[in-house]
Order: sequence, then C-alpha cells, then structure tokens
Amino acid sequence: MSLLVVGSQRVPLFVAGLRALQPDIALQVWPDEVPDPDAVRHALAWGAPDGVLAGFQNLKLMVSVGAGVDHLLKDPHLPDVPLVRFVDPDLTQRMTSYIALQCLYHHRRMCEFATAQRAGRWEHLVEPNAPDVTVSVLGTGVLGQAALTALRGLGYRLQGWSRTPKSLAGVTTFDGADGLDACLATTDILVCLLPLTPATRGMLNADLFAKLKRNGALPGPVLINAGRGGLQVETDILAALQDGTLYAASLDVFENEPLPSASPLWAHERVVITPHCAAESDPNAIAAYTLRQIAAFEAGEPLDHLVDRTRGY
Ligand code: NDP
Ligand code: OXD
Repeated sequence: MSLLVVGSQRVPLFVAGLRALQPDIALQVWPDEVPDPDAVRHALAWGAPDGVLAGFQNLKLMVSVGAGVDHLLKDPHLPDVPLVRFVDPDLTQRMTSYIALQCLYHHRRMCEFATAQRAGRWEHLVEPNAPDVTVSVLGTGVLGQAALTALRGLGYRLQGWSRTPKSLAGVTTFDGADGLDACLATTDILVCLLPLTPATRGMLNADLFAKLKRNGALPGPVLINAGRGGLQVETDILAALQDGTLYAASLDVFENEPLPSASPLWAHERVVITPHCAAESDPNAIAAYTLRQIAAFEAGEPLDHLVDRTRGY
C-alpha cells in the first residue's frame, strides 16, 4: 500500500515531511518514481494533469495540497473516491495576515504614498477612519471567517456573503444571488475568498464592479482577490481601473499563472501583485495532515474537510 505524491513543484518538501514523520512510509512520486501503480491507495495531489490519477486503479483517497480543489476537480477523469482539502491553522493565519495587510494598505492610501515617495513628494491625503470603511468578504468559510475576525479588530464595518445563510458576530451577512447586489452597494473594499466553481467563475467582472458603492470613504472601490484567478476577468479589472469604477486592487491570483510579463497589471501604480503566495501551505503541516487523514480513512473514521463534488468545493 503506498502514497502517491503528484503535481506540485514542492513534491520534494512533501516527501521529506512525510518521511520525517513516518520513516517507513511507502511513497511513489509521479512521474519519475512510480514502480508499482497498483500499490497506490492514497494520493497527495496539486494540479495533477488530467487523467493521471485515473491511471491508479486501486486509489481510494485523495488529499488536496490546497484548501481549494479546483486544480483537481477540473480533471474530467478524476477518480470517484473521497477527496479531502487542506485546512490548517498555519494556512489560515497566513491568509488572515494577507487580507488584513491589503485592507490596511489601501485604507491607509499606501499606493499613493509609495508613488509620492518615489517622486520625493511630501503629500498629505485624506485617510478615512476605519469604522467609515465597509469591507465585504465574499466567501465566509474557514478563511473568510478568520479574516473577518481579524478585520473586526481593526475597526472596519464588516459584511460577508456566502452561498447559504450565516450568522456572524459583528458582521452584516448576505447570501445567494439575491443578497449579492445589496452587499456590493455598501462596499468600499471587496475581499474575495471564494472557491473557483462553475457558479463563481468570472464573477469578478465589469457588471459586479459597477454595483460597488460610489462616493464612499475612499476615492473609489478597492478589489482584493486571494481566492482564485478564474474568478476574475482581468480585462474588466483593467478597464474598471482606467475609468474609475475601481480605484485600486490587490491580486494574489490570476487567470494565467505566472501572470504574463506583458500584463498591464504589473505596472499599474494602484495595483498590488503577489505571486499566489497569500497563504502557501506549510509542507510539514501538509505531511502531518495527510497522514492523519489516511489513518482516519483506514480506521473507517469520518474524514475532515471532505469536498462536496456537486457544490465544487
Ligand atoms: P471554504 O470552503 O471554507 O469556504 C468557501 C466559502 O465560499 C463559503 O462561505 C461558501 O459558502 C462560499 N461560496 C462558495 N460558492 C459560493 C457561491 N456560489 N456563492 C456564494 N458563496 C459561495 O473555503 P476556504 O475558506 O478554506 O478557502 C476559500 C478559497 O481560498 C479556496 O477555495 C481557494 O481557492 C482560496 N485559497 C487561496 C490561497 C492563496 O494562497 N491565494 C490559499 C488558500 C486558499 P457556504 O458557507 O454557504 O458554503
Ligand atoms: C490553496 C492555495 O488553495 O494555496 O491552498 O491556493
């Protein structure tokens, strides 16, 4: 019985982490070290090329390296076995600090101050008080709720939007397609922590940006996307930045990664670009999590964070 590690550029780190925790573990590593495909019973995977996992006929459990699972569900031949996603305090903490950092950055007008500094210009700007700034988090799951908790400590007015109704202390909540417009209409800073599913693909587009609050506390609406690049339409973001529908953005994820060097997003003075690193999973935490999930599965115990394939997350 062996564990297949597949897809991620960080495979050597995962292998080291797994071996440190369980020195006698039987590992196979796709594509170069797969001596006995029939022995593979579990897989730890990130973005496995379509059809690869279907080649392991005795596969019984898949663990996603990421909290998001779009990188696996895109495979039309993905085996019909349980898929668990990665949920971990270290990852949650990293995402929380990324979201707090980006909200503060735009609220405190750091893009403009950085431009002024480069020009050697001493420039005062209006900075609203936090309670006058409404931050809305699209996706109030594990990461969205943790971000909202941290943002509450910074004093913002908070809103959250999810697929199903939620009650969250200190947060005005909205749900479903009907709730989205009302949420957007009062939003100064829009934070996206949604999974990429057929329902969410491309939703950060011109129509949505046009529904954000006008004449708010900031010079214009701000978009922060750390969910997935497939949620956003980059040509619409650029057009919205150009015509003022959006004032600024922080983007950690992109339609195509790495973001092509020709993208005008790189050079925009009020766009913050990070290379999909808002919350990189810790390889040792992934190794420990994977072994725990395998042990639970083999003992017939319930699995944590099982993905619902019909929802897509
Ligand atoms: P969860 O599954 O815990 O939360 C997902 C949230 O999105 C839930 O609140 C869910 O609603 C909501 N949602 C899903 N579909 C819809 C929809 N159609 N309409 C409205 N709301 C919807 O996920 P996590 O919080 O753990 O992670 C979120 C995403 O963050 C991941 O899928 C991944 O893409 C991204 N991510 C990015 C990282 C990075 O480094 N940039 C790192 C880690 C994750 P409900 O509560 O009703 O189910
Ligand atoms: C994730 C990611 O989904 O790192 O965990 O993007």
